[in-house]
Amino acid sequence: MIGRFTRALATAALLAVGAGCDALPGKPVPDERYVRPDAVKDFASLYGENCSGCHGADGRLGPARPLNDPLYLAFASDTDLIRATSQGVAGTTMPAFAISAGGTLTDQQIADLVREMRTRWARPQEVAGVTPPPYAAALGDAQAGAATYAASCASCHGKDGAGVAGKAKGSIVDGSYLALVSDQGLRSTVVAGRMDLGMPDFRGGAGGTPLTATQVADVVAWLAAQRSQFPGRPYPESK
Ligand code: HEC
Ligand code: HEC
Repeated sequence: MIGRFTRALATAALLAVGAGCDALPGKPVPDERYVRPDAVKDFASLYGENCSGCHGADGRLGPARPLNDPLYLAFASDTDLIRATSQGVAGTTMPAFAISAGGTLTDQQIADLVREMRTRWARPQEVAGVTPPPYAAALGDAQAGAATYAASCASCHGKDGAGVAGKAKGSIVDGSYLALVSDQGLRSTVVAGRMDLGMPDFRGGAGGTPLTATQVADVVAWLAAQRSQFPGRPYPESK
């Protein structure tokens, strides 16, 4: 005869197996389970896995421009941010992230990223009352730009753009640098600076006067005109 005791023991054993199932050794806890790339939603993962390597942890101090910059975020609209993130920037190392453009992120993930960057990093109170020049504009007059460069940039970048010890270290007329940066990238730098590296934004023109939209377009044209035809050659042109 199967006693009540035996039955109770069997039930207890079954319960123990049932309860223990979720804690079997080696079974991933929910946080460690595989998440399909298109199901990733949180900002830390989206930004950390896709952007931080170039734009820096926390959106600054990376090789590519800081995105954690209120002035930059006042300068670039959501449409501008979404376009660059989705399509990438042709001719530069900025990849296209939209699945439709060969990338890995859904349009929803890109919209979420941009919305969160703005919520976390725009800090509107820091740029209240500041109206940056428009995001996109045609190149201006390179010759006028040379004068703007001499007045507003040479103190840190040197007479010829090669840098000044103790101020800006790198050359901004280096052939390889100019070959890898777009005109819009140069424009974004002139308008928003590199606040993470000590490069002033457009408000830091000569004598503390903000650069006008015309001066910005001119100095960008001057920089673009310094591109060499055959970047990277050991014996470039005649220079
Ligand atoms: C492999 C490096 C790399 C990665 C990864 C990368 N970027 Fe970029 N990004 C760049 C570079 C370089 C530029 C500047 C391109 C140029 O010269 O215009 C740039 C430009 C941009 C711009 C436009 C800046 C402007 O001038 O207005 C935005 C917005 C941007 N990136 C967002 C992102 C976001 C969001 C991610 C992650 C989803 C990301 N990037 C990942 C390298 C990268
Ligand atoms: C107060 C000093 C200062 C002034 C003035 C200044 N810069 Fe800079 N700039 C820097 C520093 C610092 C960097 C960071 C890189 C480095 O140290 O070389 C930088 C970086 C740059 C870069 C490279 C940015 C990148 O990451 O791709 C460009 C282009 C540039 N400056 C253009 C200009 C132009 C054009 C002007 C004048 C309108 C100007 N700068 C005025 C200090 C300055």
